[in-house]
Amino acid sequence: MPPLFPEQASTMAPRVDALYFFLLGIAVFFGLLIAGLIVFFAVKYHRRDPHAVGTNVHGLMVLEVGWTVIPFLITMVIFVWGSSVYFAMAHPPEETLNIYGVGKQWMWKFQHLDGQREIDELHVPVGRPVKMILTSEDVIHDFFVPAFRVKADVLPGRYVSVWFQPTKPGRFHLFCAEYCGTRHSGMIGEIVVMDPNEYEAWLTGGAGEGSLASAGGRLFNDLACNTCHRPDAQGRGPVLENLFGATVPLQNGSTATADEAYIRESILTPSAKVVAGFQPIMPTFQGLVTEEQLLELIEYVKSLHSQTPQPTVNK
Ligand code: CUA
Repeated sequence: MPPLFPEQASTMAPRVDALYFFLLGIAVFFGLLIAGLIVFFAVKYHRRDPHAVGTNVHGLMVLEVGWTVIPFLITMVIFVWGSSVYFAMAHPPEETLNIYGVGKQWMWKFQHLDGQREIDELHVPVGRPVKMILTSEDVIHDFFVPAFRVKADVLPGRYVSVWFQPTKPGRFHLFCAEYCGTRHSGMIGEIVVMDPNEYEAWLTGGAGEGSLASAGGRLFNDLACNTCHRPDAQGRGPVLENLFGATVPLQNGSTATADEAYIRESILTPSAKVVAGFQPIMPTFQGLVTEEQLLELIEYVKSLHSQTPQPTVNK
């Protein structure tokens, strides 16, 4: 018998399924109730005499209030329950294992922070929250792991993130769930969930090119970014040390948060958000760096911390 339901292999899976079965239960209950009443009333009150005239029915307060209040309460339960599951899915825990993914016609490419690269296969440890930071190189794809109840559209030109915490070792299907061209149906892969020590062994076995951040550092020098972005504040571009996560004042008086999307945009479209106090002289690197190289540069910027802690200003 083909399995009707995918395995539950993440912390979120039982929560999603519980809500789903609750909704299904309500739908079945009311579906049967209404269908049953239709049949029952049709039989009970069918016209026996061709000249029969119906009786006038006046409102019944208890009934009116009942069929207003009960559905209201049921929908509020669905709303509160649904929101709590939604928020849990939308907010990853503080400490996550971050992995980058790039969708491309027709494959999934993954990059681990330590430098391992994989195609159509992703190795993760069991029992740890994993955050995927995803983008597309061409069209819209969709990252879908049924066993984890995780699904997200992956869009070109921006980063979306999803998280999951695998609960059991094994191999689980990864699908592209957005029609993306001829070989869409072949854009499939596997998530390999491993015991933590097996995963450590796998990690050390695969590293060769160094971490993502170090690859980004090499690229940073190769592209001569380091001539303007210097750590000593004497460069023509802003200092990048301690930038990631900070709030950046912009020329137009507004501010921006230096997240992955901001750094990506600043590399591809430098004039979009010019930092206050700087000239818009940076050239675009559109077409010069691939999506994967952008991820390396972002990891490099994330890794930049100045040696001395920033002095705190007392007012
Ligand atoms: Cu990628 Cu469908």
